[in-house]
Parts: sequence; C-alpha cells; structure tokens
Amino acid sequence: GNPEIQNMYEAHTWLAKLYHHLLRHTKEGKDGYELLQERGLSDETIDTFQLGFAPNSKDFTKKFLENKGYHPQSMVRAGLLSYNDDGQYSDRFRGRVIFPIRNHQGKTIAFAGRSVNGGDPKYLNSPETELFHKGKLLYNFDLARGEIRKQGEVVLLEGQMDVISAYQAGIKHGIATLGTAITETQAKLIRRYVEKVIICYDSDNAGVEASYKAANILRKAGCEVRVASIRDGMDPDEFIRHYGSDAFRNEVLDNSYAYMGFVIQYLKRGYNMNNEGDRIAYIEKVLDEVSKMEKPIERDYYVRELAAEHDFSVEALEKEIIDRRKKQG
Ligand code: CTP
Ligand code: MN
Ligand code: MN
Ligand code: MN
Ligand code: MN
Repeated sequence: GNPEIQNMYEAHTWLAKLYHHLLRHTKEGKDGYELLQERGLSDETIDTFQLGFAPNSKDFTKKFLENKGYHPQSMVRAGLLSYNDDGQYSDRFRGRVIFPIRNHQGKTIAFAGRSVNGGDPKYLNSPETELFHKGKLLYNFDLARGEIRKQGEVVLLEGQMDVISAYQAGIKHGIATLGTAITETQAKLIRRYVEKVIICYDSDNAGVEASYKAANILRKAGCEVRVASIRDGMDPDEFIRHYGSDAFRNEVLDNSYAYMGFVIQYLKRGYNMNNEGDRIAYIEKVLDEVSKMEKPIERDYYVRELAAEHDFSVEALEKEIIDRRKKQG
C-alpha cells in the first residue's frame, strides 16, 4: 500500500517496543513501572499489553523517530509528534504511561498516555489519524475476540485499566471504547460477533448515564444487554483490586441486571418516591418502556413487580400497557 501509511504503522510498532523497554528495564521508566505495580499489574500483564513509558522530554521520541528515518511531518500525521506555533516538532507523549492501542488485527495504531504525577489531562490519546478512528475501534478486541466467541458474551468496560485488570483476573472477553460514548458502528461490529453484552461501566454518575445510553445503542443494533452495577462508587479495576476476581465474577458480572431491571432503577433518578405525583410520573415512564417489550410474559413479570413495589393494582398497570401498545400500533 501507500508507503507513508506503512511508515505510520511501523513507527507505532517501534515506539511501542521502545516505550515498553523503557518501562520494564530502565530507570527512565521507573515512575511508570511503579504506577502499574501499585495498580497490581504483574510483569506478565504488562508484557501482554506491551505497556510502556514515554519519558518527560520534548524531543526524546522525535530524535528516536528521526534516527529511524521517519519525517517529522509524517509523524505528526501519525499523531506521534506535535507541530508547535514556533515551527518546532516535539513529542506528543511526555512523562506518561503508554497503553498501545491495537486495531482489530492486532497492529498498534495509536497510544493512550496516562499521567503519572496527577498532571492534566489524566489521559492523553492519539488524535484521529488515517490509522486510528476512535469511533470504530474497540480496545482489546483482537485479544478478546476468541474468548468472546467461546463465551458467547462480551463485557463492555469504560477504560483500558478496567480491561487490563479484568484480563489479569481471568475475564478475557472484556473490551472498551476509549473515553467516548459507544457509537452505532461499534455496536454493529459487536453484534456481528456476539449477541449478549454485559455493560460494566464505572458506578459513578457519569458511568450510570453512559450505561443507559450504551444500552440503548446496543439494543438498537440487536444486542441483548445486561447492565452490571458495582457497589461503593468504584470502577471495575478498583473493585477487582479491593475484592478480587471471584467477587467481580460472582457479585458484579453474574449479578448484572437484565435491561428492564436496570431501567427500572435508572428511571428513579430525579423522582421522590414519597411524593405521589412523582411516583405516578415515574411509573408512566417505566410503563412506556415495559410496553415496548415483545414477550407477554416479560411484560407480565414487570407489571407485577411494579404493582407490588409501588402499590398500584396489576389491572390498572395492565390497562396502561394495553393503551400504550395500541398507540404503538
Ligand atoms: N479518558 C480519556 N480522557 C480523559 C479521561 C478518561 O480518554 N481525560 C478515557 C480513558 O480511556 C479512561 C476512560 O476514559 O480509561 C475512563 O475514564 P475514568 O474513569 O475517568 O478513568 P479512571 O478510572 O479515573 O483512570 P485510572 O483508572 O487510570 O485512574
Ligand atoms: Mn476519573
Ligand atoms: Mn469513569
Ligand atoms: Mn474509571
Ligand atoms: Mn480507574
């Protein structure tokens, strides 16, 4: 193919190796190595994901790439260097732990860099390039693919640390989108491989909101969605570190909500269940969702559950469902 594109791939491969070597075997990479050790990652895991460290220098990477014969301009196009106002080229990733981002064929095509000293932003990613299209890429899909097929299920996590922690804990069918909401393209890609998706995002507000959005996009693509919920406001990586892999499997993944169970909890936000107006408004919203369910026994199940929890009659709720289904045609 195009030789410049070829160079962009090669440069990523070289740099991933270099950054990994620095992290594992040199004192330049010590800050990065220590951070990953504090995160409980083993050398084996660090090697599997080829995690690395980019030194805090404005021209370390630039010089390395120049020595390899790559044009700085081309490396800007690859997202590896920046071109500054003063007409100078400089390193994009500085003083950061490097997570190589592999495409679905396993080639490194971008990097995510995490600050080690609390620097802002916490994560700096490669920009959109000809190699890297954020909205099309699923992180770890190349490694996870076989296990996804085998298990007939995929676990969708928020970030690379969550995917890597889960992987180390033996949950090898985890993938993530990188700091962005899941796109229709990504959802369709998932559906080509598997029907069942367990969404396992962070348990903070942003994570719960994102779970709702992701669940709807995935369902539209034809996926059967479950949503896991993690206690104590943790994210999957933190949970695994605190409670271990068995707890993550048993209490989080195996305990996930079916979509409607999640929605019933999710829609409660913003309503005061002691106020009758709020309770009715909430029930109306839930009924909108339940009425869209295909299977009569599933609708029946939730109608009974809602009637019992909120002190409505089953008959009244059933009638509401019938009205809604008539309108839906
Ligand atoms: N992210 C990003 N840019 C940011 C923050 C986050 O691209 N400024 C992406 C990263 O891929 C990250 C994911 O969003 O892995 C989840 O973000 P967040 O939950 O905020 O990450 P933390 O769990 O706080 O990160 P860490 O575990 O590394 O401390
Ligand atoms: Mn955060
Ligand atoms: Mn988060
Ligand atoms: Mn998180
Ligand atoms: Mn985290």
